[in-house]
Amino acid sequence: MSGSIRTEAVQAASEIQLQSRALSPFIGSEVVGLDLKKPLGEATIAAVRALLLKRGVLFFDDQHLSPEQQVAFTAQFGFVNTSGARRPGSPAPGVGVFDSRDELYGRVSRWHADGTHAEEPSTIKSLQAIVTPEIGGDTIWASTEAAYDRLSEPLKRLAEALTAIHATTPLRTTEWGSARSFGGDFIWSEHPVVAVHPETGRKSLFVSPRYTPELVGLRPHESVAVLKVFFDHIIQPEHQVRFRWTPGAIALWDNRSALHYAVDDYGQGLRIVHSVSVRGEARVGVNGERSRLGSISRAAAE
Ligand SMILES: [Fe+2]
Repeated sequence: MSGSIRTEAVQAASEIQLQSRALSPFIGSEVVGLDLKKPLGEATIAAVRALLLKRGVLFFDDQHLSPEQQVAFTAQFGFVNTSGARRPGSPAPGVGVFDSRDELYGRVSRWHADGTHAEEPSTIKSLQAIVTPEIGGDTIWASTEAAYDRLSEPLKRLAEALTAIHATTPLRTTEWGSARSFGGDFIWSEHPVVAVHPETGRKSLFVSPRYTPELVGLRPHESVAVLKVFFDHIIQPEHQVRFRWTPGAIALWDNRSALHYAVDDYGQGLRIVHSVSVRGEARVGVNGERSRLGSISRAAAE
């Protein structure tokens, strides 16, 4: 009985035709004709989700959502925690603010997926431009699924056999097990280098220049060299889409299949964006290995 209900639901979802246009071959589509201020309805949510899983990031111009509306929109794609600690300046529970005047968090011009130092990095994310500089301040996404697919077969096999450390602060080790840092608290996790998407089964190359200081089990010079191969490969222009923000534009992306980079080319210009995250989940590798939280939480500078 429940099986037939599910089948009907899938069919209903497939009947919704979104008006969308691919912006690059491997990643990124713009969607028009939807008002994200209103609840989308089950079939439209399913259609947006299906397109998101396929295209990695979706763009919706001219939405102008209030912070609460952005939370409600994002929560249609998974649980949004609105009870956690609020960062300074947050306009509503569950909403993070990136303001270019904030020296620590305002500009993240390094390739990364969000929060991968955690054991369960966020899954689906939304970002809305509130204030945009006159020129510049684009965000670029790169498909880590296309990157995996287009890796040579020997390197795919190598990547699938590896796990990597993702850490909040620069973490240096001479050998695995003797972590050195620049001091203070930090969080790290160990993730499979090739992660299998839980909804699509697609594989992605899951490392980033911002968060991944080393590969587990390699000698330091090997780790640096192999990571550079992976980083250079992921961020090839062929795997990218670049979005020009206007106030009120929304990006919805799958943090499991893309890295992103906020281009810092606007000098003293003001750029403010609001972000909302769907609850995270552990990544799973090709042999079922799962993300695990590291045990070190504090290290003295050495
Ligand atoms: Fe980010």
